[in-house]
Amino acid sequence: MANFETVTIETDLLILGGGMASCGAAVEAAHWAKKNGLKVTLVDKAAIDRSGAVAMGLSAINQYVGLKEGDNTVEDYVNYVKQDLMGVARDDLVANIARHVDSSVHLFEKWGLPIWKAEGGGYVHEGRWQLMINGESYKVIVAEAAKNHLGVDNIYERVFIVGPVMNGDECVGAYGFSVRENKFYVFKARAIMCALGGAVHVFKPRSTGEGLGRAWYPPWNSGSSAYFTLKAGAEMTCQEVRFIPVRFKDAYGPVGAWFLLFKSRATNAFGGEYMVERRPELENWLPYGKVKPIPANLRNYLGMLDVMDGKGPIYMRTDEAIQKIADEFKDDPKAYKKKMKELESEAWEDFLDMTISQAILWAASDVHPEEKSSEIAAAEPYFIGSHSGASGAWVSGPEDLAPADYFWGYENMCTTKGLFAAGDATGASSHKFSSGSHAEGRIAGKAAIRYLVNENPPMPTIDDAKIEALKAATLKPLDVYAEHKDFTSQVDVNPNYILPKMYMFRLQKMMDEYAGGVGAQFTTSKFMCERGLELLGILKEDAVHLGAADLHELMRCWENVHRTYQAEAHVRTILFREETRWPGYYFRADFPKLDNDNWLCFVNCVMDPETEEWEMLKRPLLPMS
Ligand code: FAD
Ligand code: ADX
Repeated sequence: MANFETVTIETDLLILGGGMASCGAAVEAAHWAKKNGLKVTLVDKAAIDRSGAVAMGLSAINQYVGLKEGDNTVEDYVNYVKQDLMGVARDDLVANIARHVDSSVHLFEKWGLPIWKAEGGGYVHEGRWQLMINGESYKVIVAEAAKNHLGVDNIYERVFIVGPVMNGDECVGAYGFSVRENKFYVFKARAIMCALGGAVHVFKPRSTGEGLGRAWYPPWNSGSSAYFTLKAGAEMTCQEVRFIPVRFKDAYGPVGAWFLLFKSRATNAFGGEYMVERRPELENWLPYGKVKPIPANLRNYLGMLDVMDGKGPIYMRTDEAIQKIADEFKDDPKAYKKKMKELESEAWEDFLDMTISQAILWAASDVHPEEKSSEIAAAEPYFIGSHSGASGAWVSGPEDLAPADYFWGYENMCTTKGLFAAGDATGASSHKFSSGSHAEGRIAGKAAIRYLVNENPPMPTIDDAKIEALKAATLKPLDVYAEHKDFTSQVDVNPNYILPKMYMFRLQKMMDEYAGGVGAQFTTSKFMCERGLELLGILKEDAVHLGAADLHELMRCWENVHRTYQAEAHVRTILFREETRWPGYYFRADFPKLDNDNWLCFVNCVMDPETEEWEMLKRPLLPMS
């Protein structure tokens, strides 16, 4: 076996991931831990200054309720989220985040994040819930606060978490390895919070050769939250609710600022506006077809109908939108020129703050947004419970808001005792975005400390033999590769192992074809899902033959194992829900309509961590208490 030192760390609360939710958890948990003499430890596969979905920066904070300003109520936000998700969301979880999110935004500002201010005072809104920011350094600022509160000695960077350590049905820690040194890590903990982000590259991306790796969702989040919580025996929810963002084509620039701030139209190649011309189609998806704003998946769907009718490409009319705003100043040539300059720079900054590659693509392809429209397109599916998708763990709500069936003692605790989750790792609480994920992390971090204080669980003991077995399984791809690499002259073609990239291509191909990816026009059916599951089963059997030449490839191997479990949860849940509820995200060709009588509910699943047998469950949608 590869020669790796085993490093064991004991802590009271272990925070997995260093993204938005974990940085929120770190700040809050450190505060309460200090009062109670407890230790909090955080671990991330990368460096937390630039890790997770906010690594490149963001140009907007997408959840700000404005409670102090009297702009909106918590109920307004709950209604917005529920409508956008075609009726399926946990009111108690969404409300809990909505009532705390503004304070996270105020903290960001206090820590130094520049939020745009209106001339008369107050924040500049992109839309009703969104604030404009100069967010290139957003993550650096949020991570700095987490570091200051936790202390850098309690943060482990560049350690990839593979999975949970279980003692029976209790989760007592996590294991993984350094991606820089030959070290195997075991973290023993009395409570654990999982916030390892969502998943990308489960489905075949639009770019498969040139541009491979560029996707909307960041390539470094690969389904670790889903794997960790599933392997800890936690109940999962909304695993069918993938997110398909419509984005500027090929570099995935955001559309929010264009639609909401610049009030741009999107039109097809014939100049027709699908949101207007296809309006009658919305009658087929009532009551959600009539709400405002029209749910994201229905907006997608109307555009997709145009594409399927051969009316593509679809264009964001940046030129027209900029011109329209500037025209208000056309009687004063000096003011007009100044406004045009300002709009031009805002257009570029929107991308430079969060999707630099889109600005590069504009520059490389001679696009002047004030002169020329840009193509937009529906991306491949992603798993992101914090955005307009909803997949994640099924967690307890807060005592004062959750109905009895949704409450088991501590906010954001999974159905596995002592395991908490937040951000992309929790389901049925969409539209939390960066700010809401941070707030949810704070909620979960505080609840985890309360759990430690109230229940005082013992520091776990973990059998040495179990640690050795986990270590051997974790490092196996290195051994497989070392043993067989000289069998062929070409290292990537070998009958004795499969390299992680090949494995990923195989996973992506089957998900694309059978589970409704881009190549299948987002369409699947019972028979397609069943065949997909059969192929996934064979792929899982082959996962034991994954080979890795070095630490980097070892990480790639485990990322792909994690993706596989996210994929399986997804296909099983799509198969179980016999209706089409989110056209524009996916279609069940055999059940092409909404069925509110039978399916206005959550679909949950649990995987037995030992036998890997799955149970599918329907859970009722209950209002807040
Ligand atoms: P992340 O912030 O992604 O953090 C996950 C962390 O887990 C990372 O640090 C990662 O390194 C770590 N990790 C993953 N796997 C492992 C592993 N196996 N071992 C150890 N560590 C691991 N929100 C807004 O408010 N405004 C916006 O404009 C906006 N734009 C967005 C644009 C894009 C392209 C995306 C993808 C999201 C956007 N969001 C936006 C949403 C926001 O970024 C997310 O809601 C938020 O980051 C979710 O927080 P999280 O902590 O769950 O995940
Ligand atoms: S981002 O996550 O990459 O920033 P995006 O730019 O699409 O997402 O959207 C930002 C915010 O605007 C999100 O809250 C999204 O739901 C909202 N949004 C985007 N387009 C529209 C639209 N046409 N109508 C209503 N809301 C929209």
